Amino acid sequence: MQVHGFLLPPNRFPLLPSTPPSSIPIPTQSAAPLIRCTSTSNTTSQPLPLSISDAELAARGIRVRRCSAGLDLEALNAVFARVGFPRREASRLRVALEHTDALVWLEENGEAGEGAPVAFARATGDGVFNAVVWDVVVDPALQGTGLGKAVMERLLGDLRDRGIVNIALYAEPKVVGFYRMLGFAADPDGIKGMVYSRRKNKR
Ligand SMILES: CC(C)(COP(=O)(O)OP(=O)(O)OC[C@H]1O[C@@H](n2cnc3c(N)ncnc32)[C@H](O)[C@@H]1OP(=O)(O)O)[C@@H](O)C(=O)NCCC(=O)NCCS
Repeated sequence: MQVHGFLLPPNRFPLLPSTPPSSIPIPTQSAAPLIRCTSTSNTTSQPLPLSISDAELAARGIRVRRCSAGLDLEALNAVFARVGFPRREASRLRVALEHTDALVWLEENGEAGEGAPVAFARATGDGVFNAVVWDVVVDPALQGTGLGKAVMERLLGDLRDRGIVNIALYAEPKVVGFYRMLGFAADPDGIKGMVYSRRKNKR
């Protein structure tokens, strides 16, 4: 995905992207079980309002998931492909999820047991001060029905519940309005995001 913009709430500072070039070997922990869950809140801060409740999603046959257990990486990759994201090697995607601090995905009920992901968002970070949001996606068949907002509201809520105040992301121009609607601001206080890209630097 090309980086065209940098959005974050006001009074924040820039962060660098964390995607490794494909030539770097996969860390050995890739064999570890794929389980990464967003912990529940123990703060007293006011929860963010949700535009669609879990119950309303359930009535549409959609379940909110905050744990990578049960997430079908092939199905997630298929959603990435359908929106034009580059397809990720499953083993690398697994490592990325193992190093993800918070994730929310929406599962459409399957006829037999676990269903497929139809929306997804995740964040990496230091767990206390800073986070960067990645891979926000909604299956094209369900775009425009509030699911993008639903995953992002929950992800932002989970991060805020942990006391994380700096939440940044990289936005393609066509989705800047979507992130603005969620409270993100581009270049707050004139701060510019800067990216070191191995592809651009050719080394
Ligand atoms: C961007 C994306 C995640 C939005 O998800 P979505 O489910 O289609 O959006 P929602 O239905 O939740 O829309 C919520 C609100 O955002 C608005 N919105 C959605 N997409 C928008 C866009 N591209 N620009 C401006 N506003 C947008 C909607 O109009 C809606 O407004 P409302 O609450 O006032 O009615 C989804 O379109 C997507 O997966 N796109 C392809 C992948 C992508 O580009 N991801 C972002 C990478 S940086």
